[in-house]
Amino acid sequence: MTTLDINQVRSCFPSLASGFIYADNAGGSQTTQGVIDRIVDYLSNTNVQMGGEYPVGLLSSQRVAEGSVTAAELFNAASVDEVGFGPSTTMMFENFARALENDIHPGDEFIISYEHEANNGPWKRLAERRKAVLKYWQPTPVSTDNPYSFAYNIEELLPLVSSRTRLVAISACSNILGSLIPVEEAVKALRQRAKEQGARKVEVSVDCVAYAPHRKMDVQKWDIDYCVFSLYKVYGIHNAAAYVRLAAMQTSLTSGIAHHFMKDEFHKLQPGGQGYELAYAATGVVPYLKSLTPENDLAASFDAIANYEQEILAPLLVFLTDAKQVERGVRLVGTSEINLSRVPTISFFVIGQNAIKSKDIIGIRHGHFYAYSLVDNIRPKLDVDDGLVRISLVHYNTVEEVERIVDVLREALA
Ligand SMILES: Cc1ncc(COP(=O)(O)O)c(C=O)c1O
Repeated sequence: MTTLDINQVRSCFPSLASGFIYADNAGGSQTTQGVIDRIVDYLSNTNVQMGGEYPVGLLSSQRVAEGSVTAAELFNAASVDEVGFGPSTTMMFENFARALENDIHPGDEFIISYEHEANNGPWKRLAERRKAVLKYWQPTPVSTDNPYSFAYNIEELLPLVSSRTRLVAISACSNILGSLIPVEEAVKALRQRAKEQGARKVEVSVDCVAYAPHRKMDVQKWDIDYCVFSLYKVYGIHNAAAYVRLAAMQTSLTSGIAHHFMKDEFHKLQPGGQGYELAYAATGVVPYLKSLTPENDLAASFDAIANYEQEILAPLLVFLTDAKQVERGVRLVGTSEINLSRVPTISFFVIGQNAIKSKDIIGIRHGHFYAYSLVDNIRPKLDVDDGLVRISLVHYNTVEEVERIVDVLREALA
């Protein structure tokens, strides 16, 4: 197993030279030099309308097309025709929901996990428009010591599946709990259950925003229909890459949301087109990730990232779950195990006689992080807006940085 060369990693991010500790990476990561260079290069040398037959026009089109190759590689999509870009993950899920309208019937059922609103809200609104029924897959406590140690269990998903199940919307990783959902296993089990129940057509939509910076996606292996992630959390820029399985594109997403003559492939889901310089800039992400290991291979790089993340996860989890801190009122939300089933996104709050408002604990980030239903359903009930403290790390954070964060927390909780 290759280990990460942390100095080499950090040298790829110009912003890290300042020494500032970036610990809100689930909110947005830093950007690699390769991505920054591509935006400048695109705008300096190829900033013309796509489709032009002249040399600069051809180069511009080629560069934007390379963006799709990158997205397809990151998703492991079967074809570049299944991927495209949009302004944000939230917008792309909304576009999917609008385009799906003709293929949803009264009484159809949607199963939604309690996660970020991006993959909840569009389906809730679609359900209202089309009189579909909403069912929720909720995380449940996994520990008797800490009732806030929630996780999603496939056993609780399956009873929600019926002959009317039409859509299942889940997150591959929770942006609050930090835990990974075994997507392949969950989808396999739910498709089997749906088949037994005689369901007409079940499609699965996966939010990969909190997953993509940490692990390798594989839409084919997962057997899913829709998937989106935001590049600005994966060392890139402010746009989102989206995947739609070709069959879903052809038979499900048939309500027009783009100009009536834009019928082919992904264009019909991109009203107004995509950000050209952003699509091209995305091509800087894959070479960066591959450069992390000598194998020059995405899978090997994500393995190295996942292993390294255990090192930076440990000091924080050990500190926050220490008996002294638990007695102090610190409650971790999510699981406390240091293993590959979670990423270094750690959320907690402080209750008890000396409770502290989340906003007063450490100047990183606090709140519900748009996973409103998840935080709103924590019991005993919290002030949802004050919510949780979230510290979210990625592979460019160092153990020394994490130890400094622990020192600040120790002082705040004294
Ligand atoms: C898990 C998750 N899903 C979706 C989103 C929304 O992404 P975007 O800002 O690109 O709409 C976020 C952003 O914080 C997120 O953390």
